[in-house]
Amino acid sequence: MKKVGIFYGPAGGRTESVAKRISQLLGSENNQLISLDNAGKDDINEYENIIFGIATIGKETWDAESLEGGWFDFMPLLENVDLQGKKIALYGLGDHVRWPKHFVDAMGQLYATIKGKGIDTIGKVSPDDYTFDESEALIDDMFVGLPVDEDFEPGLTDLRIKDWVDEIKKQFND
Ligand SMILES: Cc1cc2nc3c(=O)[nH]c(=O)nc-3n(C[C@H](O)[C@H](O)[C@H](O)COP(=O)(O)O)c2cc1C
Repeated sequence: MKKVGIFYGPAGGRTESVAKRISQLLGSENNQLISLDNAGKDDINEYENIIFGIATIGKETWDAESLEGGWFDFMPLLENVDLQGKKIALYGLGDHVRWPKHFVDAMGQLYATIKGKGIDTIGKVSPDDYTFDESEALIDDMFVGLPVDEDFEPGLTDLRIKDWVDEIKKQFND
């Protein structure tokens, strides 16, 4: 497996702690953790295997204006990068109790940007194990990446991450 770039934002919270846990599971020699605060176009170009981590910090009506943790600047930058041939997996932090109608919406927004460039993501996840009403990250009955709810389901996170990492490991570029 070629080295994986784990790009995440915001820094300093649960999105970062999940990035670190994913990094450990992949094996630290196999990946590089990159906070969006320090990331630019060149960093994306460096990796054929990429994980993007994002949190949804919404308002009552979630929209792109609410993108936080570096994503407000990084998402438009992605639109101008060549993603051809890259394997890309997404995870998204959210809260299914307080935001059941906007569960991990930001991950859906990120997916739309990537899909708009003709690239599909790896590591889609069945919604069967989740409780929520609506999500922009649910496309064709699958989550476009891994939802993680550290607010109300922290006890499920380790197993969720492990199953997901096992799956994406098989699909990353050799
Ligand atoms: C002001 C605010 C708005 C939020 N809006 C949403 C939302 O619309 N959908 C959702 O799934 N989670 C929402 N959340 C939950 C966060 O995504 C969750 O707490 C996440 O773990 C935060 O990531 P961080 O710890 O890296 O900052 C919101 C949290 C806050 C504080």
